[in-house]
Amino acid sequence: MSTWLSLFAILFVVISAASLLVFQAYTGVPSLPSSTSEAADVIALLRQAGLKDRAKIYDLGSGWGTLVVALARAFPAAEVHGIEVSPLPYLVARVRTWNLANVSLIYKDFTKAAPGDADAVTCDLMTDTMRGVGRLPDATLATGTLVVSITFWFRGRTVCATRQAPMRGAVALYQWPTLAAVSPEITSSVASILSTS
Ligand SMILES: C[S@@+](CC[C@H](N)C(=O)[O-])C[C@H]1O[C@@H](n2cnc3c(N)ncnc32)[C@H](O)[C@@H]1O
Repeated sequence: MSTWLSLFAILFVVISAASLLVFQAYTGVPSLPSSTSEAADVIALLRQAGLKDRAKIYDLGSGWGTLVVALARAFPAAEVHGIEVSPLPYLVARVRTWNLANVSLIYKDFTKAAPGDADAVTCDLMTDTMRGVGRLPDATLATGTLVVSITFWFRGRTVCATRQAPMRGAVALYQWPTLAAVSPEITSSVASILSTS
């Protein structure tokens, strides 16, 4: 019996590792969880930018669900949607969020998603992926949508504010597509962040 259990455990570990590697090769991004301090910085930037209570937030590449859980708890009246294509992190995130009524997880390649109703979008990806990701908000997001990126930034975009903790990359806030094109209320709230950061 214990031999079968050991074999089953080994098989599970091998299949899990293989699955993570295959999907990392597909997306170009490892499924490393966001840290709690990164999640706290994302939340602080969204709060400072005046994200409304009943916002729709999309986490592109929601991985193991750390950021989705933190966002759902920080903004209990918001709808938090995580999009993830790697099966193992997706399943773990489903278990972690089963009791969070304001979270929905979508098993999908986010480049094929259209989060056009988003008030805010978050992501924790890699340099090469960010080039492609920049096209997604250009094609789908409404003007003024808040976008927060952990560590890897969008090239050629105006950063509204950043938060930097020791020993890791900064978290950056954008307002899509640029600061100049948005409503006066949002521009003034973001400008006040700039003046205090
Ligand atoms: C660094 S992890 C994000 C971790 C996550 N924020 C957390 O809290 O656990 C990046 C994730 O993005 C996912 N990803 C990358 N490209 C994707 C795509 N095109 N569609 C869906 N998920 C993608 C990867 O599978 C990976 O799990």
